[in-house]
Amino acid sequence: MHFKKDFVFGTATSSYQIEGAHNEGGRTPSIWDMFCDIDGRVFEKHNGDVACDHYHRYEEDIKHIKKLGVDTYRFSIAWPRIFPAKGEYNPEGMAFYKNLALCLREEGIKPAVTIYHWDLPMWAHEEGGWVNRESVDWFLDYAKVCFEELDDIVDSWITHNEPWCAGFLGYHVGVHAPGHRDMNEAVRAVHHILLSHGKAVELLKREMTSTTPIGITLNLSPMYAKTDSANDRLAMNNADGYSNRWFLDPVFKGEYPVDMMNLFSKYVHNFDFIQPGDMETISTACDFFGINFYSRGIVEFNAANDFLKADAYSDYEKTGMGWDIAPNEFKDLIRRLRAEYTDLPIYITENGAAFDDVLENGEVHDDNRIDYVRQHLEAVSDLNDEGMNIQGYYLWSLMDNFEWSFGYEKRFGILYIDFETQERIWKDSAKWYAGVIADHKAKHADSVEA
Ligand code: FCB
Repeated sequence: MHFKKDFVFGTATSSYQIEGAHNEGGRTPSIWDMFCDIDGRVFEKHNGDVACDHYHRYEEDIKHIKKLGVDTYRFSIAWPRIFPAKGEYNPEGMAFYKNLALCLREEGIKPAVTIYHWDLPMWAHEEGGWVNRESVDWFLDYAKVCFEELDDIVDSWITHNEPWCAGFLGYHVGVHAPGHRDMNEAVRAVHHILLSHGKAVELLKREMTSTTPIGITLNLSPMYAKTDSANDRLAMNNADGYSNRWFLDPVFKGEYPVDMMNLFSKYVHNFDFIQPGDMETISTACDFFGINFYSRGIVEFNAANDFLKADAYSDYEKTGMGWDIAPNEFKDLIRRLRAEYTDLPIYITENGAAFDDVLENGEVHDDNRIDYVRQHLEAVSDLNDEGMNIQGYYLWSLMDNFEWSFGYEKRFGILYIDFETQERIWKDSAKWYAGVIADHKAKHADSVEA
């Protein structure tokens, strides 16, 4: 594999998954604190109270980031640290992120900042959360102070991480906070999340005339039909609509896919929450497009399912999440995005894998994770040879952390965390990734080519 000189290597985390310090610095609960408290929602009732204690150990963590040699580090801001109550700005919360960004810069690491990675403040949830259109204004107030306080020390902004998870997993499937199971709510929540994205982009670029690149990150899973039958292809179409097109079409085409509106209309009896001008706002031009890629989907027809689909058996090799390892399908996905959706520079803002790591004599030999990351980096390299313009790659994750409903059971990190002692231990994958980056830098050290 080979990358242009200015290709950026990074690693990523998110606030609730690593910070801990859940009641310090003025922070109030988010929907994830509440969700973790409900029996049966999160593996062994784990929660983010302590997590990786990053809030207190960020200096040590930056040393690890520096040692990896990455160009950039993607983290997210916890909204309830910034607005612990409605309309109440908390400068102490902001100071944490300002300091974090400054410390990273001092080490020559570019901060890539996600504004919303799922920790909606409880005060917002209590007023309806994302289902309430006012959430767009609450988010804008929050985004505005982030821009005002941090824009000069942040290298790129990501408005939202994976609206599919925040919207559909949170309000339709119910396996993420707030744990609702209501398609009507879910479609509205997604609309308001996307609208808040578009408005934040307008705010930063038009009103504040900032030149800091801003974009959104979608999680995309290319969908395949089990067989070529008309039934299975219909299932595939619907799975693609649910996971991909419901997000891609509004962001890049300014419209929701009509076939999916029809399908959803069983639960969504009118679409009047889409107000004049909304779709133009949602499709406001960004500077880049962020993609989180983990796996593909394979589906078959199932008449008993609302959307006529069910996961089909797959004989692919799997990660510790049971997800198919699918670097070729990753290539299909990017080619399709180029053909059907966008010419924007692409960043892979997350890619990585959980495996059942074994810590032995202070070492973790995670060859499986190295293979996974290598295959996807090779895919990025091949895609760029085809002119696909992928400008960077963020490995998920810097360290093992709170993996949402799976708690601390699933380990995605390249640093192993001993959650008893908070010791950070380099897995083989971290050493390997540092080597890939060092080789890349050495290769380009004397070259003048871009
Ligand atoms: C993504 C999330 C991230 C992490 C990875 C494994 O969906 O953005 O927080 O949980 O999956």
